[in-house]
Amino acid sequence: MATLTPKQLYAAKAVVFIICLLPLAYIIYAALTQSLGTDPVKSLIHQTGDWAIRLFVLTMAISPMRAWFAWGSALRFRRMLGLYTWFYTSLHLLIVTTYIFAWDWQLAKIELAERPYIFVGFAAWVLMVPLGLTSNNRAVRALRKNWARLHILVYPALLLAWLHIAWQVRSSYFDAALYGVLIICLLFQRFQKLQKRL
Ligand code: HEM
Repeated sequence: MATLTPKQLYAAKAVVFIICLLPLAYIIYAALTQSLGTDPVKSLIHQTGDWAIRLFVLTMAISPMRAWFAWGSALRFRRMLGLYTWFYTSLHLLIVTTYIFAWDWQLAKIELAERPYIFVGFAAWVLMVPLGLTSNNRAVRALRKNWARLHILVYPALLLAWLHIAWQVRSSYFDAALYGVLIICLLFQRFQKLQKRL
């Protein structure tokens, strides 16, 4: 696949940026028109969670896609997709904290004791924080080799995100199984690369 010219890359990035905003636009529209269904909070949590994991897997698939399709420009989209993953995860966290915990830490403690998979999701988000905060050019330059080392955190974060989803399955295992297979394939592809980095 051809490498994009700077102009094409700029346009393609703008398109990807807008596409990634569409789920948010839909969620806001559905909330404003009161069409989130019978359980709006559940719908908000599930929609933001679904987009978080979809974007997470897509971000992790960029590197193998670059190798398979010899698409030199692919890596130029990874940072934006990674930041959108963090954005939708943070929105998911904000909705849970507001509508389930009601910003009440006693209530949060009870919920976490009853549903430990929420804590696993929170751990995934915590691991994503340093990645999000160091995703700017200045941090990349300042951290040099340590930037790549720090980004190894993405693997436990992805596994925790998957565990968070798989743990709460009550009826259909389809999504959890699909993400599980995709994640195993992605990790398998990365294994050798990771060994070189360490
Ligand atoms: C990378 C991080 C995360 C991802 C990818 C993610 C993804 C998801 C997904 C896809 C669902 C819907 C699962 C289903 O019904 O099939 C979900 C539900 C949920 N998530 Fe997360 N999540 C993440 C982090 C968090 C965090 C940080 C919290 C809060 C501390 C959280 C709390 C919840 C809760 C309360 C539910 C609803 C569970 C229920 O309906 O009983 N998640 N998450």
